[in-house]
Amino acid sequence: MRTQVGIIGAGPAGLLLSRLLALQGIDSVVLENRSRDYVEARIRAGILEQHTVDTLSAVGLGDRLHREGLEHSGIYLQYPGTRHKLDFPELCGRTVWVYGQTEVVKDLIAAQLDGGPPLLFEVSDVQPEDVDTDSPRIRFTDADGNPQLLECDVIAGTDGFHGPSRTLVQESSRGRTWERTYPYAWLGILADAAPATDELIYAWHPEGFALYSMRSPKVSRLYLQVDPSEKIEDWSDERIWDALDTRFALDGWSVNRGPVTDKSILPMRSFVSAPMRRGRLFLAGDAAHIVPPTGAKGLNLAVADVTLLATALVRLLQEGRSDLVDAYSDTALRRVWRCTHFSWFMTSMLHRSGDDFDAQLQLSQLERVCSSEAAARELAENYTGLPIG
Ligand code: FAD
Ligand code: DHB
Repeated sequence: MRTQVGIIGAGPAGLLLSRLLALQGIDSVVLENRSRDYVEARIRAGILEQHTVDTLSAVGLGDRLHREGLEHSGIYLQYPGTRHKLDFPELCGRTVWVYGQTEVVKDLIAAQLDGGPPLLFEVSDVQPEDVDTDSPRIRFTDADGNPQLLECDVIAGTDGFHGPSRTLVQESSRGRTWERTYPYAWLGILADAAPATDELIYAWHPEGFALYSMRSPKVSRLYLQVDPSEKIEDWSDERIWDALDTRFALDGWSVNRGPVTDKSILPMRSFVSAPMRRGRLFLAGDAAHIVPPTGAKGLNLAVADVTLLATALVRLLQEGRSDLVDAYSDTALRRVWRCTHFSWFMTSMLHRSGDDFDAQLQLSQLERVCSSEAAARELAENYTGLPIG
């Protein structure tokens, strides 16, 4: 088999890259080790920045997003006694959209299977080879168990944190990583309950952070800060709803309860791997960086990376010019570090560390953001997404 761009991983990064390239006349093949059902059901991010919505619309995937997605004009920041709205259009002229990553991935897969480039599910033993040459290859076993070799001009490693691409880039002598593991985790639930709020609520509370989000007018997505050692079996639905009631408490208002349809605990860390390239292997999305979820940057950063990468690969493969691929890692990493800082800032401002000095600093910072237009604008600009490139 031969293609121009071999793409490892059918998450949002790999699928969108394939579509961006196809629209510019560049061939690709996407290799995914999970099944279609598994990839489409994985509950993850839910907030799309303005540029992500614009990019998805520009590649012809805006219809369902605009029909079923919910445009949001701000967020609430809450701490005891206060629930304050940051109005994004007023502060920075932009909005964000609630549209689940599951839906983004379903739209991308449907478009790909409807006459788009090949997308192979349930492959195994995927290994990029010869990435330091101009003829890299991907060795893999197809879903029927047959060994295959995919010859490429370029390989895109969009295989997330646990895929083989990042390891290969880090093995090169220039590779370097930075990591921070936070002493917090999020317990997330999905519930068949109408959201009791018009905007997301980010709540600081002495017992820990809580986030009120949603997926539709009938489905709520809620998160609680818990200790990373907590076991999901120890959290009955009743215990979760009681903790949410406590942390979101506000006179005359209450959380809407309903059947819980999904429940899990996610660890929180920051991770950056540089450079985002080794020879003809380019990393994008979670393969190169992880952010803690506070601030909803993970998915949006993956979209920003592949937007840059697609433009650079088109220039390389159609015009033979390497200037943009040579600049890709540095350009992408500037935005990665900005989002890494913002995610760290939101995480640090909102999670209870157990230290009372930290708590006073957090409350002081929250009051500042809720009373100063300059501080609020800084948050709003980062939350709604900074320009790509
Ligand atoms: P992924 O979505 O991870 O896609 C990588 C793909 O590569 C996967 O389909 C995987 O199966 C495939 N793959 C892996 N190894 C191989 C291999 N060897 N061969 C072939 N294919 C392979 N972000 C937020 O902003 N808000 C959230 O609430 C949020 N919640 C999250 C919850 C969880 C449990 C996780 C893991 C992440 C969450 N994120 C969240 C982050 C966000 O979902 C990611 O940043 C986003 O999925 C990145 O997209 P990606 O395409 O780079 O990686
Ligand atoms: C969601 C996740 C986030 O990390 C966030 O900051 C806001 C919303 C969500 O899953 O809806």
